[in-house]
Amino acid sequence: MRLLALSGSLRARSTNGAVLHSALDVWDGPATTADIGALPHFNPDLDGEGATPPAPVAALRTAVADADALLLVSPEYAHGVPGVLKNALDWLVSSGECVHKPVAVITASPFPTGGDHANAQLRETLRMMTGEVVTAACREIPAIGPKIDAATERVKDEPTLADLATAMTHLATAAEPRTP
Ligand SMILES: Cc1cc2nc3c(=O)[nH]c(=O)nc-3n(C[C@H](O)[C@H](O)[C@H](O)COP(=O)(O)O)c2cc1C
Repeated sequence: MRLLALSGSLRARSTNGAVLHSALDVWDGPATTADIGALPHFNPDLDGEGATPPAPVAALRTAVADADALLLVSPEYAHGVPGVLKNALDWLVSSGECVHKPVAVITASPFPTGGDHANAQLRETLRMMTGEVVTAACREIPAIGPKIDAATERVKDEPTLADLATAMTHLATAAEPRTP
């Protein structure tokens, strides 16, 4: 099962990046990330009939189409989804690669709320895009700071690591081919 993970943080020492890579570490199968920071701002004039989508957009669409499951890991900014991640999703709305794609949404925050607003907004957007939000694989991780090992840029908190493994198992199960 192939996993594609997108991060809503462009920061070099991102705590969400550390969560993302810790989740990839426990994913049983090929796992890749896509650089959504290189995407242009969404503009329907650059897309659709008669237009060739910008190269980073085409690359993202191919990466999503090739994946069996998606993982979004993101901070919350001003009670919302980071623009870079919403922008990436906007490029995927009409092209359809997310349709019926199993998706897990994980938000991590230094605050006790765990990025709950952004988490809920991402799930809502994905449902609108008819992605399959795998609720059992979604997480809001509070007080993320001390849970990260700065040297390895991975989660060091054992209960959080165990829970990430459980979440990835749920996502993998949802991505398994179903017999009719
Ligand atoms: C402009 C700004 C707004 C923020 N707003 C929120 C917020 O609404 N909720 C929240 O949980 N954290 C908020 N934060 C804190 C981020 O969660 C924190 O900076 C986090 O470390 C960013 O994620 P990263 O480490 O993956 O880059 C905000 C941070 C900034 C810089």
